[in-house]
Amino acid sequence: MSEPDLFSLRGRSVLVVGAGGDLGRRAALVSGRWGAHVSVADHPSAQANLDETVAILRDEGCAVSPLSCDVTSEASVHACVTSVARDHGLDVLINAAGVMLRKAVAETTLEEWQRVLDVNLTGTWLLNRAAGRVMTAAAHGKIINFATVYAERVGPVPESAYYASKAGVANLTRSMASEFGSHGVQVNCLALGVFYPTNMTAALKDAPDTLRWMEERTLLKRLGDPARDLDGIISLLASNGSDYITGQVLYVDGGWSAW
Ligand SMILES: NC(=O)c1ccc[n+]([C@@H]2O[C@H](COP(=O)([O-])OP(=O)(O)OC[C@H]3O[C@@H](n4cnc5c(N)ncnc54)[C@H](O)[C@@H]3O)[C@@H](O)[C@H]2O)c1
Repeated sequence: MSEPDLFSLRGRSVLVVGAGGDLGRRAALVSGRWGAHVSVADHPSAQANLDETVAILRDEGCAVSPLSCDVTSEASVHACVTSVARDHGLDVLINAAGVMLRKAVAETTLEEWQRVLDVNLTGTWLLNRAAGRVMTAAAHGKIINFATVYAERVGPVPESAYYASKAGVANLTRSMASEFGSHGVQVNCLALGVFYPTNMTAALKDAPDTLRWMEERTLLKRLGDPARDLDGIISLLASNGSDYITGQVLYVDGGWSAW
């Protein structure tokens, strides 16, 4: 295989959930640029952002289809995944849907905790289960989940529900990889450092001291750039370049976790 073919997604079908968000949008764009047909989905409340994602991909000449998906709803996840599989096949699932809660544990209500767990952890399980059923039947496929550098450690800000949910995503990834591996399906997750700015991290603009501290704490002395620092790892994990990688938590954090 020649070098350019290794990362090509021509003829592949990629589903990106959370594609109205900044990192999901970028993952969709990267997949489209490598030649995939990209199905982009998000919660109905994020329709305007999803429309923007579709417009950006179409402007670049990418093949794109929009769908709706609430990852907390079993019926919605099933409908989304089966419709992509029926219309295009399903080679790659990228799950970038997620919510964050910056709150001390003593002030966090049970409903708030539950919501974060529902979206981040149960949503990942529902999507992995639905995609896994399709992919194991086809004996091939790749799943990319989104955890965080804080999946296996805690950060400086109180976010107990977020940290716990993403720790679950990391071990769920290993668990799905072990169940699906013998069926030719790979499951990996990304442990991202702080990518700024995105909707999720936008509030940091009001905390310039924290932002500076985070840059300084990162070995590369800068935060992740949503417009370029995700591109390489998505290209790798979605393509044949990662055919012997599974069950891994891949750190894309500028070296934060090395310190
Ligand atoms: N930005 C960072 O610094 C950072 C760092 C580590 C991990 N992450 C993870 O990366 C992923 C993307 O983050 P982002 O920064 O692009 O955030 P974002 O807020 O821009 O995007 C998140 C997307 O998830 C969608 N979503 C929320 N609830 C949903 C539901 N029930 N069903 C379907 N979609 C739903 C939102 O509508 C939004 O479009 C998240 O899982 C996040 O935890 C981000």
